[in-house]
Amino acid sequence: MSSHVAPAPAGGRKAVTLRTLRDMHARGERIAMLTCYDSTFAQLLDDAGVDALLVGDSLGMVLQGRASTLPVKLEDIVYHTRCVAARNRAAWLVADLPFGSYQTLDQALGSASTLMRAGAQMVKLEGGGWTADFVHKLVERGIPVCAHLGLTPQSVHALGGYRVQGREAAAAETLLRHAAELHEAGASMMVLELIPSALAERLRARLPELITIGIGAGPHTSGQVLVLHDMLGLAGGKPPRFVKDYMQGSGDVRTAIRSYVGEVREAKFPAPVHCDY
Ligand code: KIV
Repeated sequence: MSSHVAPAPAGGRKAVTLRTLRDMHARGERIAMLTCYDSTFAQLLDDAGVDALLVGDSLGMVLQGRASTLPVKLEDIVYHTRCVAARNRAAWLVADLPFGSYQTLDQALGSASTLMRAGAQMVKLEGGGWTADFVHKLVERGIPVCAHLGLTPQSVHALGGYRVQGREAAAAETLLRHAAELHEAGASMMVLELIPSALAERLRARLPELITIGIGAGPHTSGQVLVLHDMLGLAGGKPPRFVKDYMQGSGDVRTAIRSYVGEVREAKFPAPVHCDY
């Protein structure tokens, strides 16, 4: 066997690659993604058929108990990416570049390389405009990039809170322009967070080849992502409208996760009640 042929995942499904995700998108097959921060859940989610795992900087809030994602450091994401990579067999593994880890091009290249060495297969960064050039340089160096537009939690203070983005015509146009620039720069995937469904639909019509993953962005994206602790009903307090608690009526974690994957695939999630913005 050539040393450049990756071993098949032992006894499980075929490894999900960027090509797999592109093919799914092209066939209109919906992509199920969840955040994941540790090896036990990595195995569980992978076994349940989740297509992509995100080591999100949401870990600052759900694991570290912080009020925002801003305090999360690169070494935190590296540590959790290693943990997830240790037991994940087939799911596509995306890791967040945390706040302050991509302020300059050199820093972005260094931080992204560190995450890829820890086991990530793609890095995610937030924002449009100034990020396009960074995306181009990362992709040029063989690092797949997932962009993130709409509500970008690392900018929560600049945005004035966790609020729906892109409602007004000018803001919607800016988001569409940023999305086109990021796609042109080479971003192969894009998380769309907390935007009106109609805007996600326009984006899909304008950039039909871009893989979009929604969270609070309605049903017109290529796939969906939720924060694991939210969809398992563990977050406490009143969940955002776009979250569905899959533990209700499931009884156990494995069933809850399989139910999420099934509902994403069958376009049952999100239902209108989850995306009425
Ligand atoms: O950090 C995270 O978990 C995320 C998702 C909410 C998309 O960015």
